[in-house]
Amino acid sequence: MIGTKGNVVAVNGNMVSVRFDGAVSMNEVGYVKVADQQLKSEVIRIRGDVAQLQVFEITKGITIGDEVDFSGDMLAVELGPGLLGQVYDGLQNPLPQLAEKAGYFLERGVYLDPLPDNKEWSFTPLVKEGDQVERSDTLGTVPEGALQHQVMVPFTFYGTYTVSSIKPAGSYKLKDTIAELKDEKGNKIPVTMSFRWPVKRAVDCFVERLKPSDPMVTRVRLVDTFFPVARGGTYCIPGPFGAGKTVLQQITSRFADVDIVIVAACGERAGEVVETLKEFPELIDERTGRSLMERTIIICNTSSMPVAAREASVYTAVTLAEYYRQMGLNVLLLADSTSRWAQAMREMSGRLEEIPGEEAFPAYLESTIASFYERAGIVKLRNGSIGSVTIGGTVSPAGGNFEEPVTQATLKVVGAFHGLSRERSDARKFPAIHPLDSWSKYKGIIEEDKVAYAHGFMRRGTEVEQMMKVVGEEGTSNEDYIIYLKGELIDSVYFQQNSFDEVDAAVKPERQKYTFAKLLHILASKFDFPDKNEARTWFNRLRQKFLDYNGSVWQDDRFNKLEKEIEDAVKSQSQGLDKTAEKILA
Ligand SMILES: Nc1ncnc2c1ncn2[C@@H]1O[C@H](COP(=O)(O)OP(=O)(O)OP(=O)(O)O)[C@@H](O)[C@H]1O
Ligand SMILES: [Mg+2]
Repeated sequence: MIGTKGNVVAVNGNMVSVRFDGAVSMNEVGYVKVADQQLKSEVIRIRGDVAQLQVFEITKGITIGDEVDFSGDMLAVELGPGLLGQVYDGLQNPLPQLAEKAGYFLERGVYLDPLPDNKEWSFTPLVKEGDQVERSDTLGTVPEGALQHQVMVPFTFYGTYTVSSIKPAGSYKLKDTIAELKDEKGNKIPVTMSFRWPVKRAVDCFVERLKPSDPMVTRVRLVDTFFPVARGGTYCIPGPFGAGKTVLQQITSRFADVDIVIVAACGERAGEVVETLKEFPELIDERTGRSLMERTIIICNTSSMPVAAREASVYTAVTLAEYYRQMGLNVLLLADSTSRWAQAMREMSGRLEEIPGEEAFPAYLESTIASFYERAGIVKLRNGSIGSVTIGGTVSPAGGNFEEPVTQATLKVVGAFHGLSRERSDARKFPAIHPLDSWSKYKGIIEEDKVAYAHGFMRRGTEVEQMMKVVGEEGTSNEDYIIYLKGELIDSVYFQQNSFDEVDAAVKPERQKYTFAKLLHILASKFDFPDKNEARTWFNRLRQKFLDYNGSVWQDDRFNKLEKEIEDAVKSQSQGLDKTAEKILA
């Protein structure tokens, strides 16, 4: 089929206007021909016979009159075995192969197959001739990394099909026909192990959406205990420049209790992305004992790539996440940073001369952000299994001001907010999640009343601290001073976590529950000291012991010894339990 053709009538940065003859639709892919190169572009507006396209490449050299071929296809990704372990750019070009082919200064107009098509996959059929199938139903499986990749009926096959042939178990390549499906009219359609799906359309082949309820454990104490994230839920990490957003996401991508992690590094500094790439293949996933990279996909658009590609990368990432969710898996998508994506939106909107909203962001900023996070969710599939996509996005507001439009729009839709604080990161209190400003609507690993009781000490301790700045230590009662010390204790031994310590970097939920109970007991204990100096000295000593305890291997000799010392110290100083806490501790 010969697609619609057109010619460039105007160039404005990364946007070209093209007069066309025929039919063109929104989000259709077009190729601008420049010399011997074809530059991939996407239709973002149509007015009469002129279409405006965002070009995913540097537009240098495009001139009026240049030819444009419209492909008739939406911007889409290829889905099939072989996605895991890949490093793609926003258009699903495998970056290592691209670099090999085109050199490290990536050449424009070079597009490669996203999936290896000469690799042999060991296929096991799960349907037989005559079976009725619908889109997303499993036809068979192939092993991919540590999991069984389900070869599914393409998501675009609406209606019911009859399996008219299916290949026996054996080795097949990606593009080999593995089955023929007969539609309701009797047409036989060959299917392979891969198919395409448009990135801007949410994959919707499930029976129902469920309410996110189970926590997605990250092994970060402050998150799991205080501001939990649910499987299939959403959360955001806004934070000023250098406050630890990327480090927190990296920790999460390593330790989160999910089957698959997709990292969309969108517009971050190239160096950071390279760091991630170098580290990942060497890290071992303790769930499977295999390289972490085998359950990871990285979509990486560095800030040196054109802005339009950033936009594509978040959609590519979420579509890959939805694909694996259809296999009944738990997927975590981490987007860093969504602000860069929003900036890309702003740039394009400016070029389109749309009426700007707040801070020149387009008026549809909020709805676009909302529709991205809405692609998260926990769903029940037709075969009864349950899959989830959890989305966590960082936001990098200029000057760390959370009042700006991207943070505000994100806050309206997410289920948890991990606000990073400049004050805390400057004081090297990591993770710098603010313990008073942050919140979560999800259920965590520990009972809410206990968490609220402990959190109260942080809140009241901070109040006492503020007051002390005015009235001085002398003007503060001993009782208030102990509340302040308890607040400090919980901050240093529970909120802060040393991400470079082998033991403390990631704490399993059993250990969190266990040490939280110990801590709660201390917080609920009544203490009396002759003066503030003694109180401070005693708490300092206790804190140091607790930190050592956190750093020792779970339930080994040193751990047990330190625990005993902590208990003895508390016992010798405690004057019983706070009345209000007795019910909570029971
Ligand atoms: N959990 C942590 N433990 C120890 N150090 C940390 C932690 N988080 C951040 N840091 C320190 O802070 C530095 C900056 O962190 P990071 O790059 O994650 O910030 P960012 O918020 O992503 O910054 P940007 O806005 O530039 O993207 C790190 O290089 C590291 O030294
Ligand atoms: Mg960062």
